[in-house]
Amino acid sequence: MNDIVLGETVMRSGLMLAPMAGATDCSMRLVCRSHGAPYAVTEMVSAKALVRHDKKTAEIAAIHEGDSPIAVQIFGRDPADMAEAALRIATCDYNGCKTQIKPAAIDINMGCPVPKIVKNGEGSALMREPLLVYNIISACVRALDSSGTNVPLTVKIRAGWNNNRNADEIAKIAEAAGAAMICVHGRTREAMYAPPVDLDIIKTVKESVSIPVIGNGDIRSADDALRMIVYTGCDGVAIGRGALGNPWIFEEIRAAMSGVPYEPPTAMQRAEVALRHLDLMIKLKGSRTAMLEARRHLCYYIRGGHGSAALRAAIMKSSDFDEMRALILEFAKNR
Ligand SMILES: Cc1cc2nc3c(=O)[nH]c(=O)nc-3n(C[C@H](O)[C@H](O)[C@H](O)COP(=O)(O)O)c2cc1C
Repeated sequence: MNDIVLGETVMRSGLMLAPMAGATDCSMRLVCRSHGAPYAVTEMVSAKALVRHDKKTAEIAAIHEGDSPIAVQIFGRDPADMAEAALRIATCDYNGCKTQIKPAAIDINMGCPVPKIVKNGEGSALMREPLLVYNIISACVRALDSSGTNVPLTVKIRAGWNNNRNADEIAKIAEAAGAAMICVHGRTREAMYAPPVDLDIIKTVKESVSIPVIGNGDIRSADDALRMIVYTGCDGVAIGRGALGNPWIFEEIRAAMSGVPYEPPTAMQRAEVALRHLDLMIKLKGSRTAMLEARRHLCYYIRGGHGSAALRAAIMKSSDFDEMRALILEFAKNR
């Protein structure tokens, strides 16, 4: 797989960690980066809230040292808000911006299926409105071009809205409006996250545009990634749920791409990385938030194998970090 050039950024091997609100925060991104994820996208950020100086939103958009190259993903439906948010993020000019690290890209969310978002005509609901898609993307591209930052605009879409599989039409519109890359999750909004992933629609999108196309959906192993790449001709792949508790998936895919053997982590290595992930969550989000969010992540690391269900249940019940650490180490020692 070739590198993808995106503005001033090189996306190594066309590999990226897909955005997952509530999961791919800075701590998970840093863990994935240390296991070969060359590029990541933030959790989605409300454009409207960012331009209205919402503090929590700014925290999601913030880029930390060591967490780049990264695209900041925005959602919304008002072209003016979207363009202003894109400009503010690209120029590191918003309330609560932590560093002066420029994003690799601004990504627009046109794939989110959740009712809270689509009822406002945002996320995947935008795929029903091709003209609005054009207006949003061109407004953002104009704003970014005027900023002199050389930050490109990318778009993440689904196969379509319910039965209308119009990802190729939306991709062509996005390209015409100035998007530099498209990521396609090969499922309709109606399908939510249910298998299978439609590889044909990813292939059709790839054949419809000249900008790089990233395929996405259900990649849990290097074999899955290679199958998608070979079948669809896509330029790269985005991994979401397959990286939960398994940041090594990036090393596995990179090894397969270079034809070198891949050695999966031992149980002790998995435990050590789980503990590192926990420590990063505590450091970056504070104990209170980490306590709410860490259990789920830790459970991902100890999936499979005899006794893991009982250990996961114990972690879910625990409200003590030291106890969680001991449970994780117990998992490793008994393997
Ligand atoms: C919990 C969760 C949160 C997600 N949040 C986002 C998001 O904020 N922005 C986005 O574009 N996609 C989001 N997605 C979709 C993923 O990026 C990805 O397209 C989808 O999970 C399919 O890829 P996968 O099978 O590799 O997980 C989310 C998915 C999940 C499961």
